[in-house]
Amino acid sequence: MEVVHTPVLIEETLALLGPRKNDEFMADGTIGEGGHSEAFLRGFPTIHVVGIDADRTILETAKERLAEFGSRIEFHAGWSHVFFAGAPNTFDTILIDSGISVFHYAKSGRGFSFSKDEPLDMRLDTGQGKSAADLVAGLSEKDLANLLFNNAEERYSRRIARAVVSARGHGRIESAGALADIIERAVPPAYRHARLHPATKTFQALRMAVNSELIYLPTLLENAMNALKASGRLGFISFESLTDRMVKLFFREQYKEGRVTMTTKSAVCASVEEIRQNPSSRSARLRIIEKKGEKENI
Ligand SMILES: C[S@@+](CC[C@H](N)C(=O)[O-])C[C@H]1O[C@@H](n2cnc3c(N)ncnc32)[C@H](O)[C@@H]1O
Repeated sequence: MEVVHTPVLIEETLALLGPRKNDEFMADGTIGEGGHSEAFLRGFPTIHVVGIDADRTILETAKERLAEFGSRIEFHAGWSHVFFAGAPNTFDTILIDSGISVFHYAKSGRGFSFSKDEPLDMRLDTGQGKSAADLVAGLSEKDLANLLFNNAEERYSRRIARAVVSARGHGRIESAGALADIIERAVPPAYRHARLHPATKTFQALRMAVNSELIYLPTLLENAMNALKASGRLGFISFESLTDRMVKLFFREQYKEGRVTMTTKSAVCASVEEIRQNPSSRSARLRIIEKKGEKENI
């Protein structure tokens, strides 16, 4: 078993979400390769964890990595909003580290990375739904442009959508490499040679759509809140600005309704040192709320 993902904001997460009493029950709603879960299980010897992931392949890595913790950890394959819907008032702590893992770019073979010529799939749960190739083949030019703009704020969304639709005339776009080439040729030279690869945002937007990330998010937040016990805490790590904005608004709404207190007043970001060691932590934002006790809520 080889682990490729470095968990972000680990010290901050342990400090702000660590247990306040013995025998706490935690849900890692996006366990991935199990980096956060391992740190919690090792750091806090009385906690129990349930780890959930929509991707069965990565869940196998977590199972192997965390086997030494025996019955202190359980695993569940599936979408976390569905899992939380069936677990009301259960957890002292819930952590959601959203999006995808380095595993998906480096090892999944499912076309998440524009720098690898793999089948254009991008599904976390490969047993259901449309692949990225299906989306690219089926969307109208207008819908594709809107998707790129709305999900990832891609400034050349229209040009890229036009180029994709024109390329479809020569056959279905089946690989990540083929799509990346079309995007590179569609955008202006300055954008082509910018710091960010020109296909970055298109690939992000497609991944979010394929996995219904923005559709599931409101239900995930609502169901996670209901799955917390009174005084339980929900921590959410986002990487995309749109996701972080939705989390911030949801937390603010819960606060206004008197259901929670804000554990973090503003988003917690990675330190300069962490960003130096792990550049992908640059865009990470951690926000935490605490559900009020029954009496406080009346
Ligand atoms: C950023 S990674 C988690 C990394 C993990 N904290 C670690 O330290 O190894 C996010 C993981 O959550 C999974 N995932 C994303 N959204 C999900 C959802 N709504 N329900 C279940 N799993 C999800 C992905 O398959 C991925 O493995």
